[in-house]
Amino acid sequence: MKTHNIPVIAIDGPSASGKGTVAQRVAAHLGFHYLDSGALYRLVALVAMRCGVDLSDETALSKVASSLDVVFENTEIRLGNENVTEAIRAEACSNSASTIAAYPQVRSALLARQRAFRQPPGLVADGRDMGSVVFPDAVLKIFLTASAETRAQRRHKQLMEKGIDANIATLLRDIRERDARDSNRDVAPLRLGAGTGLLDTTSLDIAQAVDSVLKQYAQIGGEGRP
Ligand code: DC
Repeated sequence: MKTHNIPVIAIDGPSASGKGTVAQRVAAHLGFHYLDSGALYRLVALVAMRCGVDLSDETALSKVASSLDVVFENTEIRLGNENVTEAIRAEACSNSASTIAAYPQVRSALLARQRAFRQPPGLVADGRDMGSVVFPDAVLKIFLTASAETRAQRRHKQLMEKGIDANIATLLRDIRERDARDSNRDVAPLRLGAGTGLLDTTSLDIAQAVDSVLKQYAQIGGEGRP
């Protein structure tokens, strides 16, 4: 099958919008592959921080991006032999990922790796530029968002459930800072592009958001697992 015949559902949106959970469930429902593109930026940040790479050294960071030894297996992310699924979610990693994601060389170093996820029978990809840059021919493009306050509250709940102490005001400030960085950068900024449907989940739960994506996909004649 030619790659462009493999359907892609692109779900872009800001930090902590729930797009990862929604994308994963849509993929599971359709029997599609799933790409968490943010994890790649987080992995580059993690490796760079561990190896003492300067976060302003674009060329060194792009080398880290090209040489990532990463395996995605179900919900587990492994760097070499180490399970880093939780480590890349730390707030320090989130903030550094947002900083390094502004570098064009880092973005292009990750491009082929992301496109390689496009395998039959289909792919659900989440990130910031899935519909605009990585998979411009995606059959369905969704911009999934929620108010910054709602996202901070959701993130707070998630952290508390994991036994991690967090402060809503700090989370809200970090989310706003990341939104600004991700939306105002020159390359592949987070934006509601043409042909992209807005899905505001401020007053929706996960199941309703998943249902909405699946309905939109069915409406355009999309098919998943029989
Ligand atoms: O989706 P996330 O929060 O895991 O993403 C982490 C950071 O990576 C985020 O601040 C922006 C960046 N990112 C990006 O620039 N492009 C993507 N396709 C995915 C994430």
